[in-house]
Amino acid sequence: MSGNPTHPKLIIHGGAGSSLKGKGGAEAVRQSLYRVIEEVYSVLSQGASAQAAVVLGCRLLEDDPRFNAGTGSVLQSDGQIRMSAALMDGASQRFSGVINTGRVKNPIDLAQFLQDADDRILSDYGSAELLRELQIPLYDPLTELRLQEWIQEREGNFNKAMAGVVAERELVSSNAESTAGRGTIGVVALDNQGRLAAGTSTGGKGFERIGRVSDSAMPAGNYATRDAAISCTGIGEDIIDECLAARIVIRVTDGLSLQSAFTRSFTESQQNQRDLGAIGLDKTGAIAWGKTSEVLLAAYHDGNQIGDTLEMVEGMAVGGTGG
Ligand code: GLY
Repeated sequence: MSGNPTHPKLIIHGGAGSSLKGKGGAEAVRQSLYRVIEEVYSVLSQGASAQAAVVLGCRLLEDDPRFNAGTGSVLQSDGQIRMSAALMDGASQRFSGVINTGRVKNPIDLAQFLQDADDRILSDYGSAELLRELQIPLYDPLTELRLQEWIQEREGNFNKAMAGVVAERELVSSNAESTAGRGTIGVVALDNQGRLAAGTSTGGKGFERIGRVSDSAMPAGNYATRDAAISCTGIGEDIIDECLAARIVIRVTDGLSLQSAFTRSFTESQQNQRDLGAIGLDKTGAIAWGKTSEVLLAAYHDGNQIGDTLEMVEGMAVGGTGG
């Protein structure tokens, strides 16, 4: 904790993927992201902790069926939804999460509960037991749209390697609700006490085999210390191979600026032909984002104004503000 009150900072994402075709699509995604930024930044400015802000932001994004987390999660190869979520508090440098959990509205709530548990990462069976123990009502996150997509893919004998987590389907403006912003969600916050936190939640790639584990509930996809905090999106296997979130944070700890850490890490990711994106903050208040995929659906509040990454150039790009 810095001890000196600072301006809170906030960045969120709703996934990464292919080109947002049509302004209708981009605008719909922007509105969804800005709503969350406004609500979460308001509680941050009133003194909420980074961890509380991250949980609130993740819940709001999980509740938006546009995004592939919580309600609106994609289905796996057997037609089931299995979600993963993680929370890392930078001040305590503590990670918690659930892997392949089902029948819960907000997987991030389980991750938050586990912050103070002895056993902090639970997989499917353990997370179901925890739900029962906490008496959290059962909830079906399935939407009609995701079901229809799965049925359609099943007819094609699962020709696709994954669903639209990386949004490889083109966004058609007249059909923006059905295809916009499919992907992991993530929130990174710096509170007015200088504390950082990161949270990430996902329905996975979609159509994956049973038991596949996402990056989102690993330090590869979600990591925070006192120095920096990162949430990733994109193809989980690519994120794990780069160990992207932890890699960026450690570079900052070792002395690189957040922006330089992003540039170096994304240059390497591009050389390794990865398909991914990330958002982050550091303790100085610098905000950064990067991607190798065509688009990154991210928005931020820098203490003065809201901005987003929806118009970033296609291909590898890194950006940032402040610090
Ligand atoms: N990044 C989400 C996943 O691949 O599961």
